[in-house]
Amino acid sequence: MGRLEGQHVLVTGGGRGIGAAIVEMALAEGARATIFDIDIAPGRDLVAALGAEGRVHLAEVDIRKAAQIAAGHAAAVAAFGPVTALVNNAGRNSYADPVAMTEAEWEDVFDVDLKSAWLCARAVLPAMIEARKGAILNIASVHADHTFKGYFPYAAAKSGLVGLTRSLALEMGPHQIRVNALSPGWTETAMVAEYLAMCPPDMRERVLDTHPMGRIASPAEIANCAVFMISDEASFVTGANWRVDGGLGARFAG
Ligand SMILES: NC(=O)c1ccc[n+]([C@@H]2O[C@H](COP(=O)([O-])OP(=O)(O)OC[C@H]3O[C@@H](n4cnc5c(N)ncnc54)[C@H](O)[C@@H]3O)[C@@H](O)[C@H]2O)c1
Repeated sequence: MGRLEGQHVLVTGGGRGIGAAIVEMALAEGARATIFDIDIAPGRDLVAALGAEGRVHLAEVDIRKAAQIAAGHAAAVAAFGPVTALVNNAGRNSYADPVAMTEAEWEDVFDVDLKSAWLCARAVLPAMIEARKGAILNIASVHADHTFKGYFPYAAAKSGLVGLTRSLALEMGPHQIRVNALSPGWTETAMVAEYLAMCPPDMRERVLDTHPMGRIASPAEIANCAVFMISDEASFVTGANWRVDGGLGARFAG
């Protein structure tokens, strides 16, 4: 028996990167999965590569849009029954100048990195409340604890996501629904590759040098913890924010 046998796991941004690794591991643990992604092509490739046709429901959903979430959720439930675990994984970086940034740009960051988690939770919670069981996992970031220059206002949005996690955990505790956050550190995904492409050529080496383990995470290393947190093995873990950063956050400057 897999640790997620019989579960229906909804992963936003599940087409690539950390989300795709969570989908792959959830399937390996016996779940069926729904992917919400604004770009459906990588999800199609993932399903084909895993030979997972019939076990993954792919939905083209922009998580900034409540109506698309509602429609995507209804189709997912029609395919595989009620969602039993939600992973709010989709996110975006932001490199805005705090003076030059427009309100529309600000709202886009917060719509993707924070508001969407509430909108998706709002869609899945009624069935979880009825079942008196469910798990929500919000993929935050080490930036919720400490950040660096040039990333404005990503840290604010991810800190908000950790706050949302705590509030929802308290609201949903009486219904036996667990709500947690997982804060990855640097992880080998396209998001990081896109960031490094904007940096001086030695940036990657500098990043690796600051890591106690001399390396950054693979998406599977983040997915391992995520699957544990939504599984019954974590049945008394709620309201938590677990940092999975290879020890980076333990480090003081110097
Ligand atoms: N990679 C890292 O080092 C790292 C570190 C800390 C936190 N995180 C967080 O982990 C999560 C996943 O990161 P990743 O590196 O795998 O990112 P990624 O950019 O590789 O993948 C993100 C996925 O989300 C989807 N997405 C983006 N906007 C969307 C929208 N509006 N609607 C629906 N789908 C949308 C993308 O199409 C993509 O498939 C993000 O929340 C990110 O902030 C990543």
